[in-house]
Amino acid sequence: MSHKFDPTRAEKLISVQRYQELKPDILLQRLATPPGSTILDLGCGNGFFSFPAAVAMGEGMVIAADVSEPMLSLLNQRNPPENIQVLPVEEVKMDIEDDSVDATVMIALYHEFKSPSDNLAEIKRVLRPEGKLMILDWDPLAERERGPSKDHRVSESKVLSDLGSAGFKVDEHENYVADMWMIIAHNPA
Ligand SMILES: C[S@@+](CC[C@H](N)C(=O)[O-])C[C@H]1O[C@@H](n2cnc3c(N)ncnc32)[C@H](O)[C@@H]1O
Repeated sequence: MSHKFDPTRAEKLISVQRYQELKPDILLQRLATPPGSTILDLGCGNGFFSFPAAVAMGEGMVIAADVSEPMLSLLNQRNPPENIQVLPVEEVKMDIEDDSVDATVMIALYHEFKSPSDNLAEIKRVLRPEGKLMILDWDPLAERERGPSKDHRVSESKVLSDLGSAGFKVDEHENYVADMWMIIAHNPA
């Protein structure tokens, strides 16, 4: 059974409090992908990360990809700049060329995947060699005050193991905020 985000709750994804807490500028610094690069914001929702990433990429671009047409329509209503390419994708398959993306970011997405190993293989296909992957998601071990129920969360250790099986190399992992972990990995050349 899949647990996809309910688009009627999209407004809270772009609240001031969420920006203050998750700090997309810090995430961009940690990703260290230079201006001019192409970032894939997979499961972009209504664009929490896509908009600041597009500013940071300057002449580069952000592919804002999501399976949900309602979420992409909410993103479009926010008048994305020209360097955001809005891309509807399938549950796994993405209409993106091999080795064409410098970094992929997934915020609060991994726990919604139906078949994570297939998604990781597809992400590896589109990431260039040495391309980065940043994953941020809910910690099932944290006290639950918000977010998906604990049994719909995925542990950092499970994702570290999935990444190893998929051929990624993990560079860093940590608790980013009290109830969300972060992993930075790359696609070895
Ligand atoms: C909780 S929202 C997070 C949105 C955004 N990343 C953020 O942090 O504000 C999860 C998003 O992932 C999308 N999603 C779920 N499964 C997906 C998949 N297999 N591929 C792409 N997007 C997916 C959902 O439609 C939803 O917009």
